[in-house]
Amino acid sequence: MKEKISSLKEQFIAEIANADSAELLEAIRIAFLGKKGYITDLLKGLRDVPNEDKKEAGQLINALKNEVEAGIADKAKSIEEEALLGAIRSAKKYNPTIPSNAKSGSYHPITLIQRELEGIFDSMGFTVEDYPEIVDDYSCFEAVNVPKDHPARDMQDTYYIENGQLLKTQTSAAQNFIMRKYGAPLRAIFPGRCFRNESTDACHENTFFQMEGMMIDKSISISNLIYFMKTMLSEVFQRDVTVRLRPGFFPFTEPGFELDINCQICGGTGCPSCKNSGWLELCPCGMIHPNVLREGGIDPEEYTGFAFGLGLTRLAMMKYGVKDIRDFNSGNLKALSQFKNN
Ligand code: DAH
Repeated sequence: MKEKISSLKEQFIAEIANADSAELLEAIRIAFLGKKGYITDLLKGLRDVPNEDKKEAGQLINALKNEVEAGIADKAKSIEEEALLGAIRSAKKYNPTIPSNAKSGSYHPITLIQRELEGIFDSMGFTVEDYPEIVDDYSCFEAVNVPKDHPARDMQDTYYIENGQLLKTQTSAAQNFIMRKYGAPLRAIFPGRCFRNESTDACHENTFFQMEGMMIDKSISISNLIYFMKTMLSEVFQRDVTVRLRPGFFPFTEPGFELDINCQICGGTGCPSCKNSGWLELCPCGMIHPNVLREGGIDPEEYTGFAFGLGLTRLAMMKYGVKDIRDFNSGNLKALSQFKNN
């Protein structure tokens, strides 16, 4: 029996060394481990082994079985690796001279205008900040001087989430965070997507982009605000644009303004995009309310500042002549592909 086992072992070693395909390996497996294989035969042969030798013979057969199984598994792995290497070697080499017919994508116009503005403000010393879209009531309202039950909350129909948080209705929601992060003096812009439960028309959307800006320092005044707004707009439109300031009310400003821009679609004669007024409300702004500064940990006796909430989507409409604000979220690739070369 012992000789049988050791000669089978040698046979296995010789056969497995020559197995160079998965088929050959499978044939060896069946020959050795199959129901009618050599090892089964050996086990059957145990019957005839004298009792005192049975234990040792059984152990030897088991050891051989384990060796055969491990040998087959190892070989299977190396055959597989070899096949993969072979496939890689025979794969066609990448040819960079073949012309591509893949269509390239384009940036969304909001992305374009956002990046442009970030560049303009960056060159004026503003940092660019990011802030989540889901915020709490405190940052969106209370921290910017809109306490619970304040009538100004009616101006922004809010989407509340079951856990009490909300989709930010305004980028002003980040004001407190930025003031706490940097303290005074500071110059920062923070673009972001905002949400309001509004019915939509050519110039209203329930999902739109704003870009908030803040500048806080000693003796900042309204003339600083006007200077930065005018500089920014003439950079964007590459010419002097006509703007007008109207008084506006925002709980977080004192005083507050509405900055309107001459409608660039109709040139000011009146069209649906500007509701026939010739003007488009573009940038609510104002001097930061002392309560807001205080809540942000900044002493209003020492520092003043201005803030604005630029309508990025509106600005993109003006700049690119988009007549309907709803086009931005429509996912219409034909419309978007026009911006390829911008
Ligand atoms: N958060 C305001 C809105 O969405 C816009 C705004 C007004 C932002 C005045 C400001 C500001 O920073 O000073 O209606």
